[in-house]
Order: sequence, then C-alpha cells, then structure tokens
Amino acid sequence: MKRADIVILGAGAAGMMCAVEAARRGRGVLVIDHASAPGEKIRISGGGRCNFTNLSVAPGRFLSQNPRFALSALSRFGPQDFIARVDRAGISWHEKTLGQLFCDGSARQIVEMLTGQMAEAGAELWLGAAVTEVARAGHRFALTTGRGPVEADRLVVATGGKSVPKMGATGFGHDIARRFGLAVTETRPALVPLTFGDDDLAAWKHLAGVSVSARVSRDKTGFAEGLLFTHRGLSGPSILQISSYWREGVEIEVDLAPACSVAEALKEARQAGGKVPVGRALAAHLPGRLAEAVLAGLGVEGRLADQPNAVLDRIGAAVNRWRVKPIGSEGYRTAEVTLGGVDTRGLDARTMEARSVPGLHFIGEAVDVTGWLGGYNFQWAWSSGWAAGQAV
Ligand code: FDA
Repeated sequence: MKRADIVILGAGAAGMMCAVEAARRGRGVLVIDHASAPGEKIRISGGGRCNFTNLSVAPGRFLSQNPRFALSALSRFGPQDFIARVDRAGISWHEKTLGQLFCDGSARQIVEMLTGQMAEAGAELWLGAAVTEVARAGHRFALTTGRGPVEADRLVVATGGKSVPKMGATGFGHDIARRFGLAVTETRPALVPLTFGDDDLAAWKHLAGVSVSARVSRDKTGFAEGLLFTHRGLSGPSILQISSYWREGVEIEVDLAPACSVAEALKEARQAGGKVPVGRALAAHLPGRLAEAVLAGLGVEGRLADQPNAVLDRIGAAVNRWRVKPIGSEGYRTAEVTLGGVDTRGLDARTMEARSVPGLHFIGEAVDVTGWLGGYNFQWAWSSGWAAGQAV
C-alpha cells in the first residue's frame, strides 16, 4: 500500500502547478497520470509554442454558471505571477496579439519547467498508471491504480475535460465529482470549429482554405479575429471563440469585411466609373474566390456600373451581415476545451475544496470555468492549481 499526504490525479497544467506548490510547502505529493508523458496538452498547445497566459484576465473572459468564482484564484495568482516564473526559468516569450503570450522557442520548455520544479520540490510522479476506483476510507481516500492501492489524506482531481480523447482526456473528474455527490453542469465541446449542413456546404465548401479577418457574433457577444473556411464548415479564432456561446439551432452573424461598409464602398466605386466587373470591385474588400462565391449565391453578375442600389445593398448585407446557421461542431475530437464541469457552487473558491467532502479538491478544466481562446485556459489551470496547492 502506497501512502501520500496528497494525491493529485492528472499531470496536466493544473495538476503539476498544484504539485509544485504543495510539495514546496513540505507535503508528500504523488501525482498519478495514465498518459505516458506529463503535460501533453501543454506540449501541443499554441502550435507548439504554448500560449501560456493572457495579460488581461477580466472576469468577462471566462464562461461559467458563476463567472465570479474564478476571480479569487485569478487575483491571487495572476498572469504576472506565472510570467515571473517563466522569466526565472529563462524561457523567452513574446506577445503575439490581444495580450496573448507565447514561448519564443518550444512549449516543451513550459513542461520541463514544471516537471523540473516538481522534482526539485520532491513531488513523485507516476506515469502510465490508470486509476480505476476512488473511494472514501474513513477520513482518507483510497485509490485503486494500475500500480496497486494508494491512500491519501487529500485528493486533488486535475484530470481536465473531455476534449481530445486521443490525448488521454476522459471526463473521469466529472465521474468522481458525481460519485461524491457533487453536481456537474452540462458539458459540451468549446473552442471548436462549427460545421455546415448540406446546403451551406454546397455553397461554401469549395472555399476550404480561404481566410479573412471577420467579426463573428451571437446576440451581444462578438469577436473580431480570423475566420477560415473548411471542408466541413467554419473555423479560425473568431469561430472558435463564438462556438463557446453558440447552441444548436442558433444563427451566428458574420461580418466578412468589418473594416468597411461594402454597400457604401461599392456605390462610391460605381460613382467613380464602375466599368469593372462587380466581382473585381468586390474583390477589393474580400479574397477574390470569396467575392465570386458571394455574388454567385446572390445570382449577381455583370459590370458594377449596371448594378442598382438595391443590388449593392444586397451584396453589402451578404458580406457585412451574413447570417448562417451551423448544424453542429467538430466535437470533442478537436475542441480545445470542455465547457461546463464540476459545479462551482459545490466548491470553495479560495481552496477549490468540495464543500461537502473535506479533503477533495477539483482544479483546472474539470471545473465549470472555461476561458476564451488566447491563454485564458492555461491561466485558469495555473491559478486554480496554485490556489489548491496552498490549501492541501
Ligand atoms: P489537462 O487536460 O491539461 O490535464 C489532465 C491530465 O489528466 C492529462 O495529463 C490526462 O492524461 C490526465 N487524465 C485524464 N483522465 C485521467 C485518468 N482517468 N487517470 C489518470 N490521469 C488522467 N489553452 C491555453 O490557454 N492556451 C493554448 O495555447 C491552448 N492550446 C490548446 C491546444 C489544443 C490542441 C488543445 C486541445 C487545448 C489547448 N488549450 C490551450 C487548452 C488547455 O490545454 C487546457 O485548458 C489545459 O490543458 C487544462 O489543464 P488541466 O490541467 O485542467 O487538464
């Protein structure tokens, strides 16, 4: 029988941060992961450069049934605290856009920083160790693992969400929460490409690979970032962002040329001569293939000079206010995160401990806190892991 003060399930971003903190406080820490390497999602994140935080972590950047829940941990261990660690580790970084910080070199540097700090602080790491059963044994926790039984005073669940199962994601943390009587909010794939039905696919699929700067919105929430046409529908940062707010049966509005009013611009161009084909005039504001597809969809052709205002207004609406109804998403297979998770009403925001089960903590993506695209999810993992690490 292996005994530890603290067992942390999951050697991802949140679990490793918690392990470092708890071990530095002198606690006996064992981290267990069924994967063969720690921090796999860190390694592949940000195109291999890891967008490890964002300079601005305002509460509006996180989705949750209680968006204020995250504030305690985020304010006690925020982006500057993580940046200070990255700096101390000698990892150089840059701001790419919108406050998003990436490693100059490789995401592996972040994994190595965390595994190095864990080893230095004396935390033990078991890899390739499946945990099949978690139960209460008096005031302690009893785990059945591939390496035999383990007992711990405290159990920290840091097993992440359900996104990208082929990287080891399981939803096991949600099962443990339910088993101990905690509520789990509805979960769904988020930060995920959206897919089209047959009609929209027929109209747009041939544009796969075309990208534009767009503004995508649903109700009052909108994101002005890149949009990419794919073989299945739409992707790119603006679509991933809105996917967290989108639901089946709901339209999104896409402005394919947010920098200008296309109807007004075409009317001005017509005034200035207008002998060019309308497709060429529209291509001043959109990639050429997209301009052609928009016009084909409207059945518009010929010279700009021959188009009445009503037609230019229809073109403008199709470009600046394209309303489209995706039929689904690419699902957990490609989703960057899982929306929803362990209901925050059952957790203490300061310690991440379950109110009804002393000694049981949930951190990271397993919890119902989901960040926007742009480093927010890792910051939540660091902050919640740090907060639990001070308390266990
Ligand atoms: P995480 O998923 O990292 O770790 C959970 C660990 O638990 C895993 O090691 C897993 O193997 C283990 N585990 C699961 N079930 C288990 C079980 N039953 N038994 C034992 N172990 C188990 N975010 C961001 O801020 N910036 C970015 O650049 C990116 N980029 C990005 C790219 C891609 C492709 C994806 C899929 C995701 C991102 N993200 C991101 C999101 C980010 O990766 C994610 O939010 C964090 O990794 C969550 O950290 P956690 O530690 O909570 O879970």
